[in-house]
Amino acid sequence: MSEYVTVAKVGEISEGRRTAFPVGDRDVAVFHVGGKYYALDDFCPHMGASLGTSGVYGDTVVCSRRMWAFNLSDGVCVDVPTLKGETIEVRAQGSEIQVRVPETGAS
Ligand code: FES
Repeated sequence: MSEYVTVAKVGEISEGRRTAFPVGDRDVAVFHVGGKYYALDDFCPHMGASLGTSGVYGDTVVCSRRMWAFNLSDGVCVDVPTLKGETIEVRAQGSEIQVRVPETGAS
């Protein structure tokens, strides 16, 4: 089972902002919206643009390449609901923001 990994300190991602962090061989986009943290695989499931550098609007991230919106809580594409970004577990633990990326091949 994978472990939580610290990617930032609480306060380093301002409200309404996002940042991508390398975690192992992947990049994880972490969002801070409404006082909560959300995380998605940074790789847009459409054509791979970075979601961690895309705009945040309400509870969605709007991909910078095609402008499709993805719900932060479940990764589902608002514009094409059959498309879904991978959600990543994220938590604030004390002063640290931590993510838990599934191990490759884990089910
Ligand atoms: S690459 Fe993100 S919507 Fe196309």
